[in-house]
Amino acid sequence: MAKVRDVFVCSACGGTQSRWMGKCPDCGAWDSLEKQTLDATASKDPQRGIVAAWRGAEIEDPHADLAGLAGLATPQAAPIAEAGGGAPVARISSRIGELDRVLGGGLVVGSVVLLGGEPGIGKSTLLLQAASAWARTGTRVLYVSSEESAEQVRGRAERLGAGAEKELFVLADTNLARIVEQARRVVPRVLVIDSAQMVYKSDIPAGPGSVTQLRRCVAELVYLAKASGIAVVLVGHVTKEGSLAGPRIVEHLVDAVLTFEGDRYHAHRIVRAVKNRYGTTMELGIFEMTGTGLREAPEGAGVAAVQGREGLQPRPGSVVCPVMQGSRCVLVELQALTATGFLGAAKRKSSGIDAGRLAMLIAVLEQHAGLRLADMDVFASSVGGLKVAEPASDLALLLAIAGAHRRKAVEPATAVIGEVGLGGEIRPVTHAEQRAREAARLGYTTLILPPPNAKQAGVKGVRVLKAATVSDAMGLLG
Ligand code: TYD
Ligand code: MG
Repeated sequence: MAKVRDVFVCSACGGTQSRWMGKCPDCGAWDSLEKQTLDATASKDPQRGIVAAWRGAEIEDPHADLAGLAGLATPQAAPIAEAGGGAPVARISSRIGELDRVLGGGLVVGSVVLLGGEPGIGKSTLLLQAASAWARTGTRVLYVSSEESAEQVRGRAERLGAGAEKELFVLADTNLARIVEQARRVVPRVLVIDSAQMVYKSDIPAGPGSVTQLRRCVAELVYLAKASGIAVVLVGHVTKEGSLAGPRIVEHLVDAVLTFEGDRYHAHRIVRAVKNRYGTTMELGIFEMTGTGLREAPEGAGVAAVQGREGLQPRPGSVVCPVMQGSRCVLVELQALTATGFLGAAKRKSSGIDAGRLAMLIAVLEQHAGLRLADMDVFASSVGGLKVAEPASDLALLLAIAGAHRRKAVEPATAVIGEVGLGGEIRPVTHAEQRAREAARLGYTTLILPPPNAKQAGVKGVRVLKAATVSDAMGLLG
């Protein structure tokens, strides 16, 4: 018989060590190793326990046809066209377009989705709204709250206008065995667990939220989803550094990982897929937090304040860029500020913008536009909290920094696209036409872009200004 032994698992990277150490040798995280008892016999077929528990159900529910399909039968190899019964992937639409889009067209039956985000960002709100939307279309949902009481959930649901849904069931519990028991009783098509970190199995000698508990509980929920056809949505809190607690451990188990981003103090929230076995990871959904829950931001509404709406004053240090986010284009306002600093200790701070790109653009400005920024503090941010990583936004950021420094602005109602090379050249970008259309639709009348994009971006009502080099672009700051 295999021996029961202790190992130490890193809660940051999932690496296993044979003895405790202050620093994980795999990922370098401090104080992240947790003791875990490895019992070879218990983990031999972890699928058995949960599937057997599920199969014990007497199902007389109308939803039962979806439940208990896979079962304990030994899996059989089959030609790919017949694999999995040959049926197309079934999806459950929430009719919340922004959420369905990120999921690749709706929640897939029998899939497991992990929604990560910082505490207080609105994960519970989003899932409760989604749960009520699913329930409204006749999909039975069991919303398990392991953090809030049932009264709290009901109170929130009432505020969100979902207090009377017949197909929405609520359970406040943290014990996984009891949650599965209730799922057997209710037979939902969607099981929401808010949050996975608070759920525990009593037979595991570790506290809720520990690596051991999280790994086992999520693994069991995955088996449950596959065996029963229930779609499971898990909430996961992220750490201050922005990674899901125990990320490696859980991310590979689930079918999709969504992150909920945004600034708690801004109204805009962005849902993004970082992994999706049933769709692209390019899409994102934009919401606004209001007094009555999250509201979908209308298509193309742009996270940036549209200059046209705010009056037509030139604003040094502020440049708008149409950024591609999956298949959609979003207008984002990039802002920069320069202030007197100390040579050799000048600050470069960015929010929503990659710090490396900021440093690169500052170097390009010093080298190719003659700006002296070595003793200037430079601050840059993307307004509204959307993270901008596209090289196509380089030129906009460059003009924002140069404009802030020289107190000059691009003309009002101007959008800027272009990638900046280290040689001071401006390179063409993809989707120029779509960007130009979106800018035109939102009232922008001038577009600054690299010459090769000029033809594609020839949209009616938009004046095109070409910039082939950084010095051309500097000439457009008035
Ligand atoms: P919550 O969904 O509980 O965040 P999470 O589950 O990610 O921790 O709520 C986030 C915040 O949203 C909360 O602090 C208050 C705010 N909020 C609103 O502004 N309007 C609303 O209708 C609701 C329900 C919450
Ligand atoms: Mg919550």
